[in-house]
Amino acid sequence: MSTPLPPPIPDLLAPDLFHPARLDGPRGYLAAMRLSVGHLARTLAAVTGPATGRSPDLAAKAVAEIDLDRPLGDPQAALEELSRVWLDDAVWFHEPSYAAHLNCPVVIPALMAEVLVSAVNASLDTFDQSVGGTYVERHLIDWTAARIGFGPGADGIFTSGGTQSNLQGLLLARDRAVAGGADPSRLRILTSRDGHFSVQKAARLLGLGDAAVVTVATDGHRRMDVGALSRGLARCTDAGLVPAAVVATAGTTDFGAIDPLREVAALAETYGCWLHVDAAYGGGLLVSARRRHLLAGIERADSVTVDYHKTWFQPVSASALLVRDGRELRHVTWHADYLNPRGVDHPNQVDKSLQTTRRFDALKLWVTLRVMGPDTIGEYVDTVVDLAAEVCRHLDASPDLEVAAAPQLSTIVFRYRPDGLDEDAADRLVPLIRSALYERGTAMVAATKVDGRRWLKLTLLNPIATFTDILAITRQVVAVGEELIAATSIEAAV
Ligand SMILES: Cc1ncc(COP(=O)(O)O)c(C=O)c1O
Repeated sequence: MSTPLPPPIPDLLAPDLFHPARLDGPRGYLAAMRLSVGHLARTLAAVTGPATGRSPDLAAKAVAEIDLDRPLGDPQAALEELSRVWLDDAVWFHEPSYAAHLNCPVVIPALMAEVLVSAVNASLDTFDQSVGGTYVERHLIDWTAARIGFGPGADGIFTSGGTQSNLQGLLLARDRAVAGGADPSRLRILTSRDGHFSVQKAARLLGLGDAAVVTVATDGHRRMDVGALSRGLARCTDAGLVPAAVVATAGTTDFGAIDPLREVAALAETYGCWLHVDAAYGGGLLVSARRRHLLAGIERADSVTVDYHKTWFQPVSASALLVRDGRELRHVTWHADYLNPRGVDHPNQVDKSLQTTRRFDALKLWVTLRVMGPDTIGEYVDTVVDLAAEVCRHLDASPDLEVAAAPQLSTIVFRYRPDGLDEDAADRLVPLIRSALYERGTAMVAATKVDGRRWLKLTLLNPIATFTDILAITRQVVAVGEELIAATSIEAAV
């Protein structure tokens, strides 16, 4: 016979949790928030590295043991339990020894906003669910569009991330081409071989098929090769295909390479195709005092992806799709009598979005800009780009480390390869070094493949991290590499 469920605690289950009378008091909102923030603060105070190295097996076991049909009925107990299933072994992007994926530490003004976003729970689909929120989002879109250099006809929408922004940009490209009479099965999207995989995914989701994406070669700096793009476009049209879109990347995931935007824009204009610039990573340069020029030509794009949750130090999710001609957003407009009927004056953001109910993510950027201002964000971006250049100079001079290409933003693709170690052995070491660092919990790096070979990658997005911090990561890479080689030769000798 099963044990009876503990009785629910009525106060916590009350539907009027956000009644003003419940803001304070022992079981009110403030008390709950203090509990939660206090729990987080204690956890953070005990953090000693970017991860604890928990294995997938143990992580899965801890979660599987929880019986969701048996509530604890006590917020403190629930917090302690979630520490065991997640928080104690979370990955900490603010730790200077975290240098793996494109995750940023988040700025505190954005976290202030996040509290309001969740508690008020405004939905940005219609004016009547958000009121001023609609205009806050629109103002930020106009502001970002102006930073891009778009004219007054520009528009856009906040999205859940770069993947969705890229999808929507390509949906608009597809629909414009189809509206112009093109046969959907003949549409092609050209992007560099280092373009983000969300472009391929978008082509699939849009019903264009995997073959619709034509990859273009890169130059010696891993940027889209303009000559190859020109030949690719010509080949498409010669074959009776329709180059509907070119996707240029402003900050590739591995190398931070920024495609030559002006030249790419000129070719896209010649062939009458939509130019989408994926600036998910490089978008932070829009507020950089020293590197804004690297995005020259972005203003000629038809659509642009900007991920505030990467180089603008915002919590996930915060991204936007910006379009040069706001009228193009009509391709995603659908009217429903119960939500956004035709002929109503209200500005309804759902008319421009792939989503319906949508978080007020824009508020995080808003509060960040109002507290810190764009220049501070731009300085953070410049700081991490400077740091990457400094670290790369050091790695170039390190006998045991090899760098794949000079960094253009804040990533460094490198690997451990001491004298005498052949390419295959260096390849084999990459995943071993990476997982050894994770398991020790002392540093986190990413891995990728370049021309079929394995490499490690540092993604530097923490403006607080110093040269010494990053050097310490690379020293660990060398130390682990040496240990692995020593262990292998001992085994071979036995
Ligand atoms: C160049 C580029 N585009 C798009 C994306 C996708 O962004 P998200 O993860 O926000 O969907 C990424 C993610 O790293 C990226 O590096």
